[in-house]
Amino acid sequence: MEDLEISNFRRAAEIGSQRLQSGRKEAVIMPNAIKVATTKDLPPGKAMAVSVGNKSIALFNIGGQYYAIDDECTHAGGSLSEGEVAGGVVTCPWHGATFDVKTGEVLSPPASDKVSSYEVWVEGEDIKIVL
Ligand code: FES
Repeated sequence: MEDLEISNFRRAAEIGSQRLQSGRKEAVIMPNAIKVATTKDLPPGKAMAVSVGNKSIALFNIGGQYYAIDDECTHAGGSLSEGEVAGGVVTCPWHGATFDVKTGEVLSPPASDKVSSYEVWVEGEDIKIVL
């Protein structure tokens, strides 16, 4: 099913970002937005790992806002989706480096390199990541 979702959104990406008119309603197609979860899957204060192609991404719900960063800590590969989350900061479960879940910036060692962050798009109950 995930391959079908990716295929559908790749097709949308080929069309590009464009507006579709349907009566008085207007929708925007976000190129490369891939559904990875639903809002029911991820309550506030929680995190989960999702896979998109060969990428593992940590998805966070911080007070109803969703954020996505690479799941793999840049220090030694700890899974950030398994870390403690408080105030928009995730602590790597392996050696305690902290990262800003909004930007992926390192806030404290031993990690020294940031992780990539991704735009998150919520459409109805669908959580999508823009790659
Ligand atoms: S693997 Fe994350 S701090 Fe070491």
